[in-house]
Amino acid sequence: MRESLVRKSDVASTTPVIAVTEATLPDVLAELGDAAKSWCALNDYIGRPGTFLLVPGANGIGAAVLFGTEQTELPHPFALGGLVNALPAGDYHLADGFPDPEQAALGFALSAYSFGRYLKDAGKTRRLAVADELDLDRLGVILDGVKLARDLINTPANDLGPGELSQAAAVLFRQHGGTGRIVIGDDLLEENFPMVHAVGRASPRAPRLADFTWGSDSDPKITLVGKGVIFDTGGLNLKPGSSMSLMKKDMGGAANVLGLAAMIMATKLPVRLRVIIPCVENAVSGNAFRPGDVLQSRKGLTVEIGNTDAEGRLVLADALALGDEESPDLMIDMATLTGAARVALGPDLPPFFTDDEVLADDMAVMAEAAADPLWRLPLWRPYMKYLDSKIADINHINTSGTGFAGSITAALFMSRFVENAGSWAHFDIYGWTPMEKPGKPAGGEAQGIRCLFDLICDRYSDTQ
Ligand code: BES
Ligand code: MN
Ligand code: ZN
Repeated sequence: MRESLVRKSDVASTTPVIAVTEATLPDVLAELGDAAKSWCALNDYIGRPGTFLLVPGANGIGAAVLFGTEQTELPHPFALGGLVNALPAGDYHLADGFPDPEQAALGFALSAYSFGRYLKDAGKTRRLAVADELDLDRLGVILDGVKLARDLINTPANDLGPGELSQAAAVLFRQHGGTGRIVIGDDLLEENFPMVHAVGRASPRAPRLADFTWGSDSDPKITLVGKGVIFDTGGLNLKPGSSMSLMKKDMGGAANVLGLAAMIMATKLPVRLRVIIPCVENAVSGNAFRPGDVLQSRKGLTVEIGNTDAEGRLVLADALALGDEESPDLMIDMATLTGAARVALGPDLPPFFTDDEVLADDMAVMAEAAADPLWRLPLWRPYMKYLDSKIADINHINTSGTGFAGSITAALFMSRFVENAGSWAHFDIYGWTPMEKPGKPAGGEAQGIRCLFDLICDRYSDTQ
């Protein structure tokens, strides 16, 4: 992805991409000359949004790419991404019609991603040459973070188990001089992570908790927690095949917080960063946890199990309780937590939950600016009663039989394990793009972390 952006001064010849609308096309063609004009007519090209045409110059060699954008509004910041995989291999640059060249370049590079791990041929390359003023270093940091998140999600569970996922955290933190530990298997019981152990113990690949820190203890403390379920069969409440087929992506929260951590560390922000990832496989075997079990939790609350397929909130509860113990200034968790979130808002608009009004407002503004959409849902306290249990302190799912507000009740459950953090925000992400869109290749997806990176830079860059 990073390689798809180059400096204009470093490339000899590049083909211009001109953004046109149906209205501006005639003027643009008048400039380009007769060959381009008749080529357009021959191809019936009228500049419809999202369409493109490579037009010849007078000598018959490609002169420019015409790219159709909306008449009425500004082009979507990532519209250009729609071109990337259709253009012939080669080098391009942006000519007229792009109001925000930085966003256009980001959209181009985000679309240029492909997951090549299992392919012999990496495919053709298209590069965009960008103006020297553009901050390529910052763009590169963002692209590397997104790539890390996507690569981890796209890697199937046969090659990414709890061990490999926790190792990915270790490698990332080691690269930047961070330190930490991985608690493995029965040590989770010794170290008081009973729910991480209960969810993960049925897999032959032992459950783990990765806990890494970076930065100076005197700086503001930011803690990121990610759901690292490397595969979610549903456990004894087994998912039907159609619901299970995509469940390699159930570590999407972990992948996203690692992508965000990579951005923060590469930028050397003056924060004390901590990442906590419970890494488990929700598998089926004789020693699996069961519906009706009552689990102890790190926090001390007893939890009645209503459905072993609601495993994410259990492992996150122990991880959040750990993070909360040192009262971080900001604690953020990300998780592919509920199908209900997708029913409410679809795959491309993740809900987030927080009681911090200022944080919520900042997030809305930054999400829009970064074209990294997010939508706030409420931590609606009256629904807490759906989690009442007769035999334990709390039930982890809504057992009232109504099936209402699945994403909210999951968030409310987790809120019971956070008391001391200055602010807490929870993101119920989908982590996957079902069908390719500009800036979003089909497959594993980073969601919310470009927005969060902007927000964290904005808040913490100047503190010393
Ligand atoms: N990993 C799933 C949630 C999920 C499913 C996210 C599909 C994205 C797409 C989670 O562990 C789960 O199975 N949740 C259940 C909870 C229910 C049993 C209360 C769900 O959402 O159906
Ligand atoms: Mn599940
Ligand atoms: Zn899950």
